[in-house]
Amino acid sequence: MTDQPLAVELTDITKTFPGVIANEDVNLAVGAGEIHAIVGENGAGKSTLMKILYGMQAPDEGTIHVRGETVHFKTPKDAIAKGIGMVHQHFMLADNLTVLENIVLGDEPTRGAQIDFSAGSDKIREIGKTYGMEIDPGALVEALTVGERQRTEIVKVLYRGARILILDEPTAVLVPQEVDELFANLREMKSEGETVIFISHHLDEVLAIADSITVMRAGRTVATVSPDDVDAKQLAELMVGSELPTPETTESTVTDAVELAVEGLTVLSDDGRKLLDDITFDIHRGEIVGIAGVEGNGQAELTDALMGILPTSSGSVVFRGDNIAAWSTKRRREDGIGIIPADRHRQGLLLQSPLWENAMLGHQTVKPFSRGPWIDRAGARERTQDVIDRFDVKTPGPDTVALALSGGNQQKLIVGKEMIADPYVLVASQPTRGIDVGAQAAIWDELRDARKEGLAVLLISADLEELIGLSDRLLVIYSGKIVADLDPQTVTPEELGSYMTGVGVEAAS
Ligand SMILES: Nc1ncnc2c1ncn2[C@@H]1O[C@H](COP(=O)(O)OP(=O)(O)OP(=O)(O)O)[C@@H](O)[C@H]1O
Ligand SMILES: [Mg+2]
Repeated sequence: MTDQPLAVELTDITKTFPGVIANEDVNLAVGAGEIHAIVGENGAGKSTLMKILYGMQAPDEGTIHVRGETVHFKTPKDAIAKGIGMVHQHFMLADNLTVLENIVLGDEPTRGAQIDFSAGSDKIREIGKTYGMEIDPGALVEALTVGERQRTEIVKVLYRGARILILDEPTAVLVPQEVDELFANLREMKSEGETVIFISHHLDEVLAIADSITVMRAGRTVATVSPDDVDAKQLAELMVGSELPTPETTESTVTDAVELAVEGLTVLSDDGRKLLDDITFDIHRGEIVGIAGVEGNGQAELTDALMGILPTSSGSVVFRGDNIAAWSTKRRREDGIGIIPADRHRQGLLLQSPLWENAMLGHQTVKPFSRGPWIDRAGARERTQDVIDRFDVKTPGPDTVALALSGGNQQKLIVGKEMIADPYVLVASQPTRGIDVGAQAAIWDELRDARKEGLAVLLISADLEELIGLSDRLLVIYSGKIVADLDPQTVTPEELGSYMTGVGVEAAS
């Protein structure tokens, strides 16, 4: 290394929240121009550390050096002024504004008293060229894919002059092709001399792209390693602090009883396009049916239609022998259809409310959450504590607000509250998104156990390993249609990938 100062040096950082030590004497050194990954279990303190570096949270103790200079950030503005930018675990764009408006918001270029939008557009295009991150400044954010939204967030940060870029779980929401693109962008940034710090639970990715990796465990940094010196298993063991169990092999538990029969399900958009086109499949008792597909090909519409949120234009859904077309969402849930929503912030959680209220969502009319017409607060707290214990949700207790949970622990709560309710059918979208490898294995075990007990699962996931590993049958959704029915035992990721992108479809037809 040269005698260039470190891009970032955090020394003895401590940060506590009521009942929780999020960071304890944390040290982190990030060289200028490197891609530095941070890994660790859910709740290990990764996001907190990065929020401290970005001026969003003040440390109780410790010092921050940026390029050799001691800094005291009071707000993100101070951090931005020192060339630090952050893209959060959950996107923060305004859907109803354009890319340009989102990017310049709060930092508008002006000519006289006017906002100079054309200067803004020029600058966005220039950033796009420099880093290979082209994006249409005039596009409406709500029309963008997840990958494009993320690109907008990154360009926004670069627009403000960031030379040190923090990305909190950037790949959690991306499909494999988008991950490749992002990584190409990050390498481009690195070759321009920028520094990237990123958090990820996908250890293979981390090993592929990082120059160095810092491991956090229970609020502390336990090691900084080179990707040349460790493999994914060793990295996971550093995170957990012990050896990981090897997953058991499983045998089929599929029975003859059909729990959910979907036939010819078609959903139209307001302007008459087919969002779901003649979808047909069964899920048996004890079976996990996986749905593979690039996000935006009808997965959200399928879950919404099954839950009675989206009206269907033709076809039927039969749940345990009953056509449930006329059933409300409430009835579907009460009668035993559980749902793990894909977007926990839009659908799954009330961030400002305590965990016990969150655990009740969708179940508030049944035991143990209600007694007659009343809410049973004690019952709700007790049930929430059961979820916390069984699913290892890291939190002081049921009265903590959801906002205070780390991203992965929020997800564990959602998965736990649905599984503990013992549904007949579980519609699980991205059940382990943002969850660390150890907790992911635990949730996979829970799903396998529940399957053995007879649960029928519709598993929608962007994680091909998860789909192939858990599913008894694998369907591919493309452009609102089921285009393939595959055996997970024999399918290859390449084959799956070609159906997912529509290539296999054309070849077959
Ligand atoms: N605003 C807050 N109020 C109270 N506790 C908090 C707050 N933010 C974080 N915590 C707690 O601090 C700990 C570390 O959280 P943090 O979000 O940094 O974890 P993380 O490593 O990013 O986890 P994940 O992988 O799940 O995103 C957790 O126990 C969390 O509950
Ligand atoms: Mg986090």
